[in-house]
Amino acid sequence: MSDEYSFKTMPSPSPNAYPSRIAVIGDLGLTSNSSTTIDHVIKNDPALVLMVGDLTYANQYLTTGGQGASCFSCSFPNAPIRETYQPRWDGWGRFMEPLTSRVPMMVIEGNHEIEPQVNGITFQSYLTRFAVPSEESRSNSSFYYSFNAGGAHFIMLGAYVDYNITGTQYSWLVDDLHRVNRSLTPWVVAAWHPPWYNSYNSHYQEFECMRQEMEALLYQYKVDIVFNGHVHAYERMNRVYNYTLDPCGPVYITVGDGGNIEKVDVDFADDPGKCPKPDDNKPEFGGLCHLNFTSGPAKGKFCWSKQPEWSAYRESSFGHGILEVVNSTYALWTWHRNQDAYKEDKPGDQIFIVRQPELCSPTTKETSNPPQGARASDPASPSSTVILSSKTMWLMSLLVALFGIVVR
Ligand SMILES: [Fe+2]
Repeated sequence: MSDEYSFKTMPSPSPNAYPSRIAVIGDLGLTSNSSTTIDHVIKNDPALVLMVGDLTYANQYLTTGGQGASCFSCSFPNAPIRETYQPRWDGWGRFMEPLTSRVPMMVIEGNHEIEPQVNGITFQSYLTRFAVPSEESRSNSSFYYSFNAGGAHFIMLGAYVDYNITGTQYSWLVDDLHRVNRSLTPWVVAAWHPPWYNSYNSHYQEFECMRQEMEALLYQYKVDIVFNGHVHAYERMNRVYNYTLDPCGPVYITVGDGGNIEKVDVDFADDPGKCPKPDDNKPEFGGLCHLNFTSGPAKGKFCWSKQPEWSAYRESSFGHGILEVVNSTYALWTWHRNQDAYKEDKPGDQIFIVRQPELCSPTTKETSNPPQGARASDPASPSSTVILSSKTMWLMSLLVALFGIVVR
């Protein structure tokens, strides 16, 4: 009944084989900005697409008349429930077809996929429209699962289902992390929708409860990179654990800036007068676990008065990211702003992420939960995120391409 399409499957697990380019997109929606993002993604020719939640915004299309609102509950306080408008989902599917008809796309749910209906029914569009390898990854839930793409193991987590230590998602995550063979898949990349580390005013510390439940486990198993969305802007963190700079923590990157109808977030929590009240950012699932920092420049306070040291780069533009894993040590991360699609391709942010697990032996790093907000006594530990000049990166890429060497 339809045209025939084909796609290339991922390389088998191996430390020497990776998808050429992995596109990471969050909070996409269906607007002119979404169009620019997807045009730009197609131009970058990814082998795999990672969607970190909030796909269509179909849940607020009818109420808003398709115009969007930066604060839905403020603009429409009497809207009884957020609808689930299926023609909008269909339109989004057609919009994505030029990409998804030939490139595998892996999704995880965001808050806009909850779509609460009568009788407590939720997530029906997400569950019905996407197939994810839940059985294959032994989770038996479409809300969290894992998969391999060459030498990278991806873990997709659910922030809107039980994430507590006593729950089934947590026990599955323990099992999944335990089964990862790092000699076959050296890279472990996790993704879920709302970020734990976020210095924007919007959604500030919203999912602090989830961080307090799960962060120690990801740290224990040396997860390399975490991708999130939800906040409609870009932010890349320095390697961090428990709000403390730590060379053994993951690199957290927020790309919730795909182009939705709720506009970009522009205010930082450290801007004068912009620190949210502790109960301003109520999560759509889970409780409030806000913390005041226990040491450092923000000691005793809920917000910093300047860009926190764990926040490396932040900018309010729409865009998407491309991850290019070179080998078991190096991966190049590039954030492409939408405005860069119209001129010489000058990325908004670009770094090599470097795996140095030898710096983080289990004997030197305890995995138990230290006090929340505690600061390391020596934050000047060797950093494993390297920022290089574009000329140096070009030279390294050329060397790797020509000789397949491992650059150290
Ligand atoms: Fe969201």
